[in-house]
Amino acid sequence: MVSLTTDKNDPDLVDTAEPVLRPDRNIALELVRATEAAAIRAVPFIGRGDKEGADGAAVDAMRAFLGTVSVDGTIVIGEGEKDHAPMLFNGERVGNGSGPQCDIAVDPIDGTSLTAAGRNNALSVIAVSDHGTMLDASTVFYMDKLVTGPAGVGVVDIRLPISENIRRLAKALGKPVDEMVVSVLHRPRHEKLIDEIRAAGAGTRLMSDGDVAGGINAARHNARTDMCVGIGGSPEGIVTACAIKALGGHIQGRLWPRDDDEKQRGVDAGLQFDGHVYEADDLVEGNNTLFVATGVTDGGLVAGVRRDADYVYTESVVLRGASGTLRRISSEHVVSKWL
Ligand code: FBP
Repeated sequence: MVSLTTDKNDPDLVDTAEPVLRPDRNIALELVRATEAAAIRAVPFIGRGDKEGADGAAVDAMRAFLGTVSVDGTIVIGEGEKDHAPMLFNGERVGNGSGPQCDIAVDPIDGTSLTAAGRNNALSVIAVSDHGTMLDASTVFYMDKLVTGPAGVGVVDIRLPISENIRRLAKALGKPVDEMVVSVLHRPRHEKLIDEIRAAGAGTRLMSDGDVAGGINAARHNARTDMCVGIGGSPEGIVTACAIKALGGHIQGRLWPRDDDEKQRGVDAGLQFDGHVYEADDLVEGNNTLFVATGVTDGGLVAGVRRDADYVYTESVVLRGASGTLRRISSEHVVSKWL
């Protein structure tokens, strides 16, 4: 057991009577190696119409690198149940077992369809938090979400009509409603929501996929979008919450079961429905979160993998909840080592 967190400047960790064994910033670079590897291995699949192939390559690479990280991690959000996902399945133990116990969420590619189509905004993502702090919503595929930057904290609420949330956030941001931009997944289920956003006087940014990047982009201080709303994956909601902790933003979610069977499985797993709102701390408790993402294809958050002669270039971000920092890591990889 190593890796004690003792940093007196760490706002989340001062005044701790006993030394606590928790995931700390030292593992960030190790995690980035895993998302970089997943992104690089997905490159041959960009624009090739094979989303399973892209995902498989990214999963293999991420798992191999995660095995070397100094944690005793449990995958809370992974590729699904053990029977259907041979690797990175929910409940799988990962890491080299030598470090702190922690919860891990992986999304080897958020945007497998984007990758297969050669479109922008595909990311490889890992999020980590203290052991026992991530909501396991794996029985329910979809979650309705509302994400904003810090200006939305205590101002917007997912229970309110979207027009009211736009009006309130515009006021808090000090800008006219007609300058507000709301991102939402472009899906038939969002037709009414999209109409309502436009009727309220705001613009929309319709995303073909990838609402993790959509949420983070809406929460950043120099964001081009102000809010990210609508129904996307529940796992993506938990992962996004880990990043939002670092950005000081707002996130709420409501589970959105597709049918009664799915809802019953959720109830059996202890989840709550019928309008129950999961606040940021319900999605992931506390601030000791790490979120790392490497671009697979180019996007507003990070650039995608680029090859130039004998080098491969990657760009990643690391967001740390305890300190509220966003770091960018640009890496040059020697191609011959990856052959
Ligand atoms: P995958 O890469 O796993 O396919 O997820 C992409 C994504 O767009 C997520 O970002 C989003 O949360 C979810 O799919 C939305 O699901 P659906 O495509 O079924 O609307």
